[in-house]
Amino acid sequence: QPVSLIGAPTDVGAGTRGSSMGPEALRVANIGPVLASHDLDVADRGNLSGPPNPNLPPVDGYRHLAEVQAWNIAVHDAVYAELALGRRPILLGGDHCLGIGSISAVARYCREQNRKLRILWLDAHADFNTQTLTPSGNLHGMPVACLCGHGPKELVEIGGHVPAISPKWVRQIGIRSVDQGEKRFVHEMDLEVFDMRYIDEMGMRHTMEIALATLDANTHLHVSFDVDFLDAEVAPGVGTTVRGGPTYREAQLCMEMIADTGRLGSLDVMELNPALDVRNKTAEVAVDLIESLFGKSTLMRTRP
Ligand code: ARG
Ligand code: MN
Ligand code: MN
Ligand code: MN
Repeated sequence: QPVSLIGAPTDVGAGTRGSSMGPEALRVANIGPVLASHDLDVADRGNLSGPPNPNLPPVDGYRHLAEVQAWNIAVHDAVYAELALGRRPILLGGDHCLGIGSISAVARYCREQNRKLRILWLDAHADFNTQTLTPSGNLHGMPVACLCGHGPKELVEIGGHVPAISPKWVRQIGIRSVDQGEKRFVHEMDLEVFDMRYIDEMGMRHTMEIALATLDANTHLHVSFDVDFLDAEVAPGVGTTVRGGPTYREAQLCMEMIADTGRLGSLDVMELNPALDVRNKTAEVAVDLIESLFGKSTLMRTRP
């Protein structure tokens, strides 16, 4: 199935500026040609546009709500249009608040097509804050809650169905930073989280076997890849680094096991911040991993 790259150059949802340069850094790291080298039909749709970052303090618990809404509507429409063409959208972020637009579009498409949806949220953070729980007001810390119906109507209603998703469809992997109130809310909503403690004890292989269990031929798999999922030594080019993440090898295995399912239908690549990177190495690592996610393997292997 063909893929489409969609750039969303904004950092309106983040606390640190710079992820607005993420789409171009991924292109400089050759994301398009690398995917095309694996016999994929790749179209680069260029960048979306939206409001600039006004750099203002939070209002009623949210920073830049109007700007975040405008960007997410643009993302929703672009992602939905690619799905409707039978293509697999790859959203090049941009900060992670854009997961709202992307995933609400995927959920809408799945609803219309009667397909099941499974979301893999690869991140250091749960991104499950709300207006009252957030310590920062930054909306990139709230997309999962918004998608589950907990957030401002400006964001919660973007996909046309509230809530856009059920927490039961989500598997979070690599989590190691959850705020106090957010922790309680994760527990209350029964979100399935494979945190670093789980990965340390059980290993990445077992973790992915569980996270990918019960997918069937009718399941659309969406991967929302926050680059800060990776250990900060491998991936310094992100605004909210948390040490102790998956190594390069663990992340490769994670991507390979997702590829093996053959169910990948859409992808977000979020939070890459070239202003904090070292010679674009984080973008290059991200492209390496995405290559595996789309089926690169060292040897000719048969699918398990
Ligand atoms: N939990 C923190 C907050 O809500 C950090 C969120 C970081 N999110 C991200 N997508 N990098 O402010
Ligand atoms: Mn994160
Ligand atoms: Mn995130
Ligand atoms: Mn961030």
